[in-house]
Amino acid sequence: MTSHIAKERAKLTKTSIIDARTLETSNKRLAEILKPGMTVLDVGCGTGAITCGIAEKVGSRGRVIGVDNNPQLIEKARQNYKDVPRLTFEIQDIYDLPFQNQFDIVTSSRVLQWLSNPQKALNMMVQATKINGFVLVLDYNHDKIVWEPEVPKSMQHFYESFLRWRSEAGMDNAIADHLPEMFKEAGLINVKITPQHEMAENSDEEFQTHITIWAEVAQFKGIQMVNDGFISEKERAQAEEDFRRWINERAKSQKMYLLAVEGMKK
Ligand SMILES: C[S@@+](CC[C@H](N)C(=O)[O-])C[C@H]1O[C@@H](n2cnc3c(N)ncnc32)[C@H](O)[C@@H]1O
Repeated sequence: MTSHIAKERAKLTKTSIIDARTLETSNKRLAEILKPGMTVLDVGCGTGAITCGIAEKVGSRGRVIGVDNNPQLIEKARQNYKDVPRLTFEIQDIYDLPFQNQFDIVTSSRVLQWLSNPQKALNMMVQATKINGFVLVLDYNHDKIVWEPEVPKSMQHFYESFLRWRSEAGMDNAIADHLPEMFKEAGLINVKITPQHEMAENSDEEFQTHITIWAEVAQFKGIQMVNDGFISEKERAQAEEDFRRWINERAKSQKMYLLAVEGMKK
């Protein structure tokens, strides 16, 4: 039951944030370990922005498959990157991956946070990985976000409701810090943790893009939360308005706690 609710809540309604990501800026640890000629599976690839960077990095001797359970996103990915050789996109659910011992690296970024059974998903990723291959997961601990200065009360209330809305669907808000244990449970060895926290400061060129993510969450995920009875439309709209004003008038920085965790399949 929670898995059905989680699937509904995980649905992406706006893609501008994931479209703007690149391998180099948004999955740095993966960029470091990729080598020419590797085969890579990117699970929960969205519209394929990071996946395309993976394909460029593994080059003409490599092979990359991006999978996502949202057909609209896969359609966009196919359109966006149809000219990139040795890169294909498939509609697949992470719980039902049809691959066995096939890839040098199986990776998933910012996806397990949206699942009600992330351990099962991780086990499926391990199954798709070759012996001596690597699994690399990138994910957040949403309990550890830091905004400077404090965000308005209405936004604090929205954010607390957002975390409750997620955890009541079985999602783990602190999943980044639970990944190492989950990797051991999945039988992976040589588990390595690399902090990849997303830091945005108001002197940065891209500050608006990064900090606006939570205004967009209030705008789009907020509607789902209203429909699910977790917050009123008045509270949602107030949080969005106050947060946008805070961005323009007061915001100094935002830190999103993000870890890359990798392990080897025996
Ligand atoms: C926050 S987006 C991350 C996209 C991209 N990996 C990135 O880092 O920008 C989460 C993605 O996971 C996908 N997703 C969620 N549940 C999934 C599932 N059960 N199987 C496959 N993909 C899933 C969503 O459709 C969405 O594209």
